[in-house]
Amino acid sequence: MSFREIAVEELMMNPMTRIAKEWMLITAGVEGSYNTMTASWGHLGALWGRGGGMPTSVIYIRPQRYTRTFVDREPLYSLCFFPQRYKEQLGYLGTHSGRDGDKVAHTGLTPVHGPGYTYFKEASLVLVCRKLYRAPLEAAKFLNQQVMEESYPERDFHVMYIGAIEKALVP
Ligand SMILES: Cc1cc2nc3c(=O)[nH]c(=O)nc-3n(C[C@H](O)[C@H](O)[C@H](O)COP(=O)(O)O)c2cc1C
Repeated sequence: MSFREIAVEELMMNPMTRIAKEWMLITAGVEGSYNTMTASWGHLGALWGRGGGMPTSVIYIRPQRYTRTFVDREPLYSLCFFPQRYKEQLGYLGTHSGRDGDKVAHTGLTPVHGPGYTYFKEASLVLVCRKLYRAPLEAAKFLNQQVMEESYPERDFHVMYIGAIEKALVP
């Protein structure tokens, strides 16, 4: 099945529940050299540009994730959303590291390689994003110590990436 591009204006989704409860895969890299991981934190919205703000995504990746190496290296990353029957596979990709072997092969998901990005055939929505901004979260910038302490007992602060959504693809 091939994917077709749609306008972001056509998207009908609640990003809060879709990301937090249904999860997504963050994937970066190309054929032969890519990695993916599950994420339940992130934002979709509008920022910068003219005419009301560019469609943008924000993702948060802890420094120790193997996926971070690929997101740092590549200009693009993809966000893949799946039908709920793939939750087990997403759970696996969120509890195993690509450092330790071919975790995608274990799930049976099918990588599809586009120019400079990778996504999965089983996805119900793919957002291809171009990195615009990268910044590690910092202890001193938290205005609420409880949030900081709860999320970062190890002080492994997420790196935040903001990307312009260049393409929305659907099967
Ligand atoms: C439901 C779920 C949500 C997750 N969300 C995030 C997230 O937003 N950011 C993050 O850095 N790690 C998150 N993780 C953890 C990574 O997916 C996990 O550490 C993964 O094994 C990293 O794989 P990698 O080392 O191949 O990159 C999440 C895990 C699960 C199961």
